[in-house]
Amino acid sequence: MSDEQVWSAVDGYVEEELGLGDEVLAAVLRESEAAGLPPISVSAAQGKFLRMLAEIQGARRILEVGTLGGYSTICLARALPEDGRLVTLEYSQKHAEVAERNIARAGLDKVVEIRVGEALTTLPALADEHPDPFDLVFIDADKANNPHYVEWALKLTRAGSVIVVDNVVRDGRVIDADSTASDVQGTRAALHLIATHPRLTGTAIQTVGTKGYDGFALARVVS
Ligand code: SAH
Ligand code: DHB
Ligand code: MG
Repeated sequence: MSDEQVWSAVDGYVEEELGLGDEVLAAVLRESEAAGLPPISVSAAQGKFLRMLAEIQGARRILEVGTLGGYSTICLARALPEDGRLVTLEYSQKHAEVAERNIARAGLDKVVEIRVGEALTTLPALADEHPDPFDLVFIDADKANNPHYVEWALKLTRAGSVIVVDNVVRDGRVIDADSTASDVQGTRAALHLIATHPRLTGTAIQTVGTKGYDGFALARVVS
């Protein structure tokens, strides 16, 4: 077996042994594939990790940037109390429609609100509403805008909030300082912001599994 095959097989074993993939999540993947959405949702193991992070955080309000078919949305929303709220921002009307059905099937349509449009357009409108601060922000959309999303997350959170940035390793491409790829530049800028911003402390963790070799950044708002 290749390294990639072993990583995938272990993810499969973990998913099975720990009972991570239920009917609702299987339907999300099935419906997303049927609608032609790209297969880039978080894995079952990553989804459970996000849910547990939100639970450990005691999150009551969650912001997500990048909904796709709603897989990570559902994982995160499952951490919320009945009166909790998750706002998820999605550029594609088609993705949002698929996600809306999946979220309804999960019984989470009362806590989840999808806002359609470019996140850099919907974020200012969201901020104008002066929402209660978000306890957790999951950034998982167009990687070129990652530094802007981290800045917006800072505006919309409080001391103690947690920010997760997905896909910060990308097969190691992140270490290429001379890369002209906008996703690499955006991710490097987001990591630099986490490193240097006085209100943030953070780390980045490399991951392997069904999604190949990648990683995520975890930041905490300190003041
Ligand atoms: N979080 C999802 C995966 C998201 S994939 C999961 O793990 O299940 C990235 C999503 O971000 C795609 O649906 C894409 O349409 C959306 N996206 C891309 N650019 C965007 C933008 N500028 N604003 C909002 N969403 C965007
Ligand atoms: C891509 C985006 C993601 O959010 C992800 O988890 C994997 C891949 C992509 O745009 O290729
Ligand atoms: Mg992602």
